[in-house]
Amino acid sequence: MGRQLPVIGHFPYIHGIGVDSFAFFLEGYRQHGRIFAVRDTFNTFAVLLGPEANRFVLERETPHLSWGAAYGAEGSRVMGPTALALQDGEEHRRRRTPMMSSFRHQNIAAFSDTMVELVRSQTETWKEGQPFDFVGEVSELTFRVACAFLLGVQVGEDYPRFRDIYKKMFRPVGLALQAAGLPYMQRYRDQLGRLSASWIADRRARPREDIISRLLEAGLDDKDVMAQVLMLMFAGHDTTKLSLSWTVATLHQHPEYLKRVLAEQDAVLGDGPITAEAMKSLPVLERAIREANRLYPPVSLARRGVLEEFELGGYTVPKGWMVMYLPRVSHHLPDVFNEPERYDPDRFAAPREEHKQPYAMVEFGGGYRTCIGKELALFEAKVVLSYLLRMFSFELVPGQRIEAGNSGAMTSPKNGVKVIVKRTGRRVPMEKAA
Ligand code: HEM
Repeated sequence: MGRQLPVIGHFPYIHGIGVDSFAFFLEGYRQHGRIFAVRDTFNTFAVLLGPEANRFVLERETPHLSWGAAYGAEGSRVMGPTALALQDGEEHRRRRTPMMSSFRHQNIAAFSDTMVELVRSQTETWKEGQPFDFVGEVSELTFRVACAFLLGVQVGEDYPRFRDIYKKMFRPVGLALQAAGLPYMQRYRDQLGRLSASWIADRRARPREDIISRLLEAGLDDKDVMAQVLMLMFAGHDTTKLSLSWTVATLHQHPEYLKRVLAEQDAVLGDGPITAEAMKSLPVLERAIREANRLYPPVSLARRGVLEEFELGGYTVPKGWMVMYLPRVSHHLPDVFNEPERYDPDRFAAPREEHKQPYAMVEFGGGYRTCIGKELALFEAKVVLSYLLRMFSFELVPGQRIEAGNSGAMTSPKNGVKVIVKRTGRRVPMEKAA
């Protein structure tokens, strides 16, 4: 029988209310090592940090640890009870397997022209010399990309309605109302239900190479398909927005590294089109994206419900507790990453390859339920940044404080990322036209 875990903090530290949770958990690691506990009104959480502890969380399935027991109550009110991220065991596999085929490399690669077209049309209206918040702009862009990839481009016609309903349901207050089970959002859910019913009817009549068709083929009913669509939009769009925003912010805070990224763009792409093939040859840019994801992982906290008591590091974690793993804190452990506070994308290059230790980098989770959109998100980041960095030069608006806020489970820049752009005068031809 293991010892009892030290409980070192309470509600505000878990939910990031008025305190710096990141600093708190990092200090917890310094004092107590890779496992300790915190408590809020309803739950006690065992906090697991570092590669070994991450492996433990990410490789355990039911009957030990459960996604459903962690996210089920609130998540099912927001997305629907059958959403993939709320399922365990066979029910999870039954839904994840058909989705995986849509996230195949060849489907993602075939999407590069659409991504370029979306970023081109989104940036056409950008005004030189006028400051704007990059996070807000890129939020719109990643929503469009997710919509096009997940739902098919012809959703274009329904796009403004879908965007409007989604925004109302998923803004922080809408989410909180739904998660609390309050009925205020029901009319938006009904509108969304009608919209997705029309997409589903269309795919039943004319199956396509998209996720809705795959899920229907797998025998999911209409409500189940809608739950997956909502979950994928939710999981896929804000995360990608944050990854792009932090990459642009950190690159422009480090002009020497930015120069190398631009030189790589010239050497690999020149004035040619952005192709899926070329995206494989951008290691300098790729390392900048990874370093931003290390310092500011979009998902900063994830949890599981404990269904069976277990022992770890000499401590007992009882049934009924939760466990949490914290990507941002784990990415800042000095015994894993050299000078973890320092922006140093070359840490990912040979011979250092600091990320090679399994489960050191967990920005996309890991194990059997690693993020289903990982390849899409990394590809999108490379395509969008290749376009933006060739078409525009960016300046961070002087005097702003770009810093991570405490917004629950996400690492968001709390004051946004204000930029000023200038057109470089270059063009990016479309692949098909080139
Ligand atoms: C930079 C962008 C992204 C980041 C940082 C990210 C991060 C993560 C993380 C950390 C997890 C694991 C959560 C846990 O262990 O509790 C996860 C799971 C997941 N992600 Fe992502 N994600 C990104 C983009 C996407 C995209 C583009 C999609 C889909 C369009 C997506 C869909 C999902 C889904 C469905 C799961 C749950 C998988 C399952 O239950 O089997 N993500 N993601």
